[in-house]
Amino acid sequence: MTMKDNRFINMLHTARKEGYAVGAFNIFNDLTLRGVITAANEAGRPIIIQTSAGTVKRLGAEALGGMVNAARSLCTQEIALHLDHCKDDTIAKACVDHGWDAIMCDYSTLPLEENIARTQAMIAYAHAKGVAVEGEVGAIFGVEEDVVAEKEHPATYEDTMHYVHATGIDAIAPAIGTAHGMYKGSPKINWELIERLGKEATPLVVHGGTGLSDETFRRMVELGAAKINISTAIKYAYRDAIVAAIPNHPVDSPMELDKKVEAEVHATVLRLIKLFAGIE
Ligand code: 13P
Repeated sequence: MTMKDNRFINMLHTARKEGYAVGAFNIFNDLTLRGVITAANEAGRPIIIQTSAGTVKRLGAEALGGMVNAARSLCTQEIALHLDHCKDDTIAKACVDHGWDAIMCDYSTLPLEENIARTQAMIAYAHAKGVAVEGEVGAIFGVEEDVVAEKEHPATYEDTMHYVHATGIDAIAPAIGTAHGMYKGSPKINWELIERLGKEATPLVVHGGTGLSDETFRRMVELGAAKINISTAIKYAYRDAIVAAIPNHPVDSPMELDKKVEAEVHATVLRLIKLFAGIE
């Protein structure tokens, strides 16, 4: 595969051109995968399916990549498979080697120049195989499985553009004031930074989508956000469906329970795909 054919990059640039954002949803098993795919089918929009490095470690890059590739036949829309926050180069390279469309290398805890040098090395590896790379500048607050940032380190326009130009990154996730996990208060979003970066050529990625208001999403898309990440909301949908169904659930019909979980994930994701696409 060449970079010109890269699904992840083409999807984000098309979304920018057409004024919507692509939803990027973290899946962790077949039920969440199916819930996301059926939602994309119903909304009629392409999607990014992403997994944490922890999920790759648990299931294996080859098996997980194979599972998503096989599921493409169930989806009427384009799917790009992406590795979310990865600090472990061995895992990132395994995904590059097993047919993933994109990886996020997260060296955000390092000083900027080291972040740039590590990113450049990963881009050289990934681009040689036609795989796109997303990078982070500043540090996004919160917990995303085993990636923990106890303090936000806000990104600046200057640092972000220096990183973008020095690396040639395919998509950029600066710390704009959003956070992973559930918000405890209202996030202090750096709208000026979003507006400036939204006008640049490199697609802008919003992390920490769970818990942001519909109005916030609409404004982000309007200002140029190209990819919006959702993880925690899927975990809640999954857990809540199980908790609601379990008390009266007959032990001999696990597939009925699976259907309820899948339906809850589907509903959560469908609402968000439509919102990011401006489909009311
Ligand atoms: P949430 O868990 O807050 O939805 O954030 C998802 C995310 O940004 C994944 O990288």
